[in-house]
Amino acid sequence: MFNFFGNKTKKTLSSEDINIQSVPEDFNEIEPLAAFFKNETGITFEKQQSILKSKLISFCNIRQIRSFKGCLEQVKSNPALKQELINYLTTNESYFYRETHQIQDVVSRIKLNKQVVDILCAPSSTGEEIYSIAIALLEAGVPKNRFNIIGIDINSDALKYAEQGIYNQRNINNLSAQILKKYFIKQQEKYYLSNEVKQCVHLKIENIFSSSFKSLGKFDYIFSRNMLIYFDPETKIKARQILESLLNEQKNPIYFGHADLF
Ligand SMILES: C[S@@+](CC[C@H](N)C(=O)[O-])C[C@H]1O[C@@H](n2cnc3c(N)ncnc32)[C@H](O)[C@@H]1O
Repeated sequence: MFNFFGNKTKKTLSSEDINIQSVPEDFNEIEPLAAFFKNETGITFEKQQSILKSKLISFCNIRQIRSFKGCLEQVKSNPALKQELINYLTTNESYFYRETHQIQDVVSRIKLNKQVVDILCAPSSTGEEIYSIAIALLEAGVPKNRFNIIGIDINSDALKYAEQGIYNQRNINNLSAQILKKYFIKQQEKYYLSNEVKQCVHLKIENIFSSSFKSLGKFDYIFSRNMLIYFDPETKIKARQILESLLNEQKNPIYFGHADLF
């Protein structure tokens, strides 16, 4: 802080600052907080303990939380803070037409018959994957009333981003000029997805391990790409069983990412 003459003055501590300062910092015992996060989301940081530690310390510092123990107590009793932690620790990297062979596979299967199909995209992150499926279906001449697509994700910020449908160059690199022209408007280096595509999908915040996820209904096709990579082997199996229970009686294969291997 600077005074009238430009000299540095000492910041006066408020009583709140003094209270916070008097609580000793303790960022050593990370395990209970890491275990809580894994139990809630399935995501493990077992092989990335130092990354988790530095991320959690900055999460706590920003919120003036002085210890991992205090953070755990607050996250357990405050659903909004728990959501902030989930948003902070999940990785949402995605882009349009990622592993397109799987998208083309589902499109060709859907084109084969004339029924209405239900598709689940879990997780859909910031929307690139679910919108890619919608675009590929429209491009193949499948009318909008022949498919319902639901996308879910545990990260509420990612879903808000998806709802807006505004993307950067690095997200759309795989799209042809013709698709960009047809389904996006470019303004100041940003790509705005058309309402026509946005209206084809429904987005919902969901954790695949919550009971409400299981009541989403049954689906003809399920995409679950690049989420299981964050789970340990046991949790991957659990997630796979949950996803399989959402397939309808035809039991079409679930599309996993190549890195999600079991
Ligand atoms: C790397 S993104 C993958 C996005 C997209 N499927 C793709 O392949 O481009 C992984 C997403 O999984 C979500 N996720 C992680 N655990 C989850 C859970 N238990 N339930 C729902 N979504 C979860 C994260 O929030 C993140 O958005």
